[in-house]
Amino acid sequence: MTQRSDAVADPWSDGPARLRGRVAVVTGASSGHGRAIALRLAQEGASVVCADLRKSPLPQGFEQDIEVDTDDVIRSHGRRAAFVEADVTSAAALEAAADAAIDAFERLDVWVNNAGVFLGMAPLLQESEETFDRTLAINLKGTWLGCRAALRRMRGQAEADPPRRSRGRIVNIGSIAGEIGQPDLSAYSASKGAVHNLTRALAIECAPDRINVNAIAPGYFPTAMNRVFWDDPETLAGVQQLHPLPLGVPEDIAATTAFLASDDAAFITGAIVPVDGGVLAK
Ligand SMILES: NC(=O)c1ccc[n+]([C@@H]2O[C@H](COP(=O)([O-])OP(=O)(O)OC[C@H]3O[C@@H](n4cnc5c(N)ncnc54)[C@H](O)[C@@H]3O)[C@@H](O)[C@H]2O)c1
Repeated sequence: MTQRSDAVADPWSDGPARLRGRVAVVTGASSGHGRAIALRLAQEGASVVCADLRKSPLPQGFEQDIEVDTDDVIRSHGRRAAFVEADVTSAAALEAAADAAIDAFERLDVWVNNAGVFLGMAPLLQESEETFDRTLAINLKGTWLGCRAALRRMRGQAEADPPRRSRGRIVNIGSIAGEIGQPDLSAYSASKGAVHNLTRALAIECAPDRINVNAIAPGYFPTAMNRVFWDDPETLAGVQQLHPLPLGVPEDIAATTAFLASDDAAFITGAIVPVDGGVLAK
């Protein structure tokens, strides 16, 4: 993946280590944002359960080391990781991913609901019901089911030693499409808008348990999901024009996820954090 020039020389040894001893589950961890998030959480010291439909990265992704699976990258740096095959539309699969975290690493501190799909743009009258149902099932219900699997474990687990200011962190990956209206994007926008308000509702519900629930709203990023935009120079120019800052990389989403998962964000809950180069500021 493209790295920023201001990135630390070796993030596995020279970066921050705010998540040492923590255990995280990341859905959709094989490609794109999920992969960058899983790697960043591991770089910061977390043991990571990578949950995805498939173990290997999507071939149309932009990862430079695309031939190596996420959990293998993590282990190759001496950190702890496991892969669990899981479809986020299945409650049983997500419960199994949560169990895998407890069985292998004994706790569950961080849960990232990242898995999502964008099934193409279409005007309302041309969008199929099947596309709508699938988009909502994965993006919204998958996130809701993930929150349930996480909450069930986090709420019941003993306070960590030394005590932390939060018993657990849930980070949902939303979208700028959940905050603004864009044409030909009705199903995806509806799913992400719902993820944002699910985040707010659960933040209030889980505050007495000292569980933080936040969301990130990414702009457009180079991942397999967006290959179609990046392959067409004219479309890419339009994407760039939408963003006041030069386009970002999945590591930007990963850095914000690590922040929200860390004690630096202990007093943040119910926030929808735009990581969008300024799109939502317009
Ligand atoms: N790329 C962007 O510009 C962008 C912008 C806004 C929001 N997002 C959101 O970021 C998240 C990740 O997107 P990405 O761009 O990395 O996508 P991607 O397509 O590059 O990767 C998605 C990963 O999720 C997995 N996945 C898909 N369906 C799944 C399911 N049902 N169960 C488990 N895993 C599943 C895929 O196998 C893949 O590994 C999504 O929620 C997406 O909506 C992406």
